[in-house]
Formats: sequence, structure tokens, C-alpha cells
Amino acid sequence: MYKIVTAERFFWEGIDLNNKVVLEGGTSWGNTTRIIVNKILENNWNTKLISVDIDDSHFNEIEDELRQSYNQLQLMKGDLSNLDFIEDESIDVVICNYTMSSVNQFPLRVLKALKELYRVLKKDGQLLITEEMPLWSIDNTEFCYWSKRSRIIKSISVLKAMPHFNEIYPNDLEESLKIVGFRNIECQQFKEKIDAELATKFLDKKKQTLIKGSNDLDNDNVTKGFVQLTEELVKKFEGTEEFSAPAYIIKAKK
Ligand SMILES: C[S@@+](CC[C@H](N)C(=O)[O-])C[C@H]1O[C@@H](n2cnc3c(N)ncnc32)[C@H](O)[C@@H]1O
Repeated sequence: MYKIVTAERFFWEGIDLNNKVVLEGGTSWGNTTRIIVNKILENNWNTKLISVDIDDSHFNEIEDELRQSYNQLQLMKGDLSNLDFIEDESIDVVICNYTMSSVNQFPLRVLKALKELYRVLKKDGQLLITEEMPLWSIDNTEFCYWSKRSRIIKSISVLKAMPHFNEIYPNDLEESLKIVGFRNIECQQFKEKIDAELATKFLDKKKQTLIKGSNDLDNDNVTKGFVQLTEELVKKFEGTEEFSAPAYIIKAKK
């Protein structure tokens, strides 16, 4: 869904994964897993990649797709805030793309996850984090679709008493990294390009969640209102191929 196009150079600058063990946090559909594997294959690196997600629902399809070209991938179901199946100081590089705001669905869990990432990293090991920027302004003109979409998705989650992503400001994440012990912290903001079809698909999935259980809100007007908002937003941006969202990359060392 997400393409790190504008900041790819900054992301990979100084990163050599040859003879390294890499831990990816938040496998999800495997977007970043594929990016890392392609980078390994392109450079002919000898790299072991462990990818962890609390939800293993896409593991089979990712494994089926990548098995033939790359045989050092280990997909593990687990919680980044409790990596007790990974030894201390056994990882050279940690990569977490768009995962921390998902971990941050539950207060303080990010701090526990950062502490675990610090524990499993070797001394001088590198941490790479890509995250979406929080969007609090209601009518953000630069990221008009993205800010409206985020608000609808979060509002539906709140109505349905479901947790939702909580984006983190870069300076808060930097401060948390310092608290945990990370050093050499660098940050770069950039504009993310997001595939419109996939972005709309997720919005539609959220709408379906609302419709399916509409009775539990005991108010049909709320359901109808959100369905209308969602459909209007999709219609307004029909024909758009790509959306922009504000994002940032943080690099740090143990
Ligand atoms: C937006 S997705 C990650 C996207 C993916 N890294 C990419 O680049 O396309 C966020 C993922 O974080 C996972 N996640 C959330 N909390 C987690 C936790 N505590 N431990 C491990 N994975 C977690 C979710 O299950 C979800 O798959």
C-alpha cells in the first residue's frame, strides 16, 4: 500500500545487510518484507530476515511468493513488546515501517516495544523506523483526502469501540528512543505516495464493519451518516491514482 518513494535514498543510505541478521517489525501484507528481500537479492547479500507480526494472517501468501527466490526468511507470530523468543544482542538491523502507530493502539506499548528492540539489537546495531505523521487539522489542504480518510476511519473505530492507529510525532518518538538508550538519532520528513485503490479498499472495509454491526449502536442515523461520508469521499476522489500523506523516517543506533 505504501511506497517509500521520496525518501528511499535516505532510508538505505549507509545500510549494508551483508552477513547480517535483520528483524522486521510488523509484516502485515509483506510490503516492506518484499522491499528488503529485493534489496538483499539485488546486492547479492547473505542476509537472514526475521519478520514478526502479532497477526499471522498473511504469512502463507508471503512465504509462497518469496520462498523460491529467497530461503532465509523466517516469519514469526509475536508481540514486538515481548520478543522473548529472540535472544539479547542477536540482531544487526531492525526495520519497522508503519508499525509503531499500530503498536500505539494501546498506550505505552510503543515504549515497551522500543525497549525490546533495544535489547535484541547488537551494540552499534541500527534501527530504521518509517511512520505516518499525525494529521490533526480538520481541513488540511495539502493532504485533503488523507486527513478526511483518517478521521472517518478513526471515528468509525471509536464508535465500534475498536482500537485504531495512533500516529506519533517524530519528536515524541525521538524522545522515547533516547529514554530507552538509542543514540545517533536522525530524522527526515517526506511525502508518502499511497496507492489510491488500496487506500479506498481499506476505507470500504471500515464502512462494512460499521454496516455489519449497525444494531449495536442503536442508532441507524449514525450508521447512515458515516456510510454517506465514506461514499462521498470515495466519489470525490474517483479517478485519482495516488494520494499523498506526510511521513517521516527515523534512524538510530544502539
Ligand atoms: C500498517 S501495518 C505494517 C505495514 C508493513 N510494515 C508495511 O510496510 O507495509 C502494521 C502492522 O503492525 C502489526 N502490529 C501491531 N501491533 C503489533 C505488536 N504489538 N507486535 C507485532 N505486530 C504488531 C499489525 O498486526 C499490522 O500488521
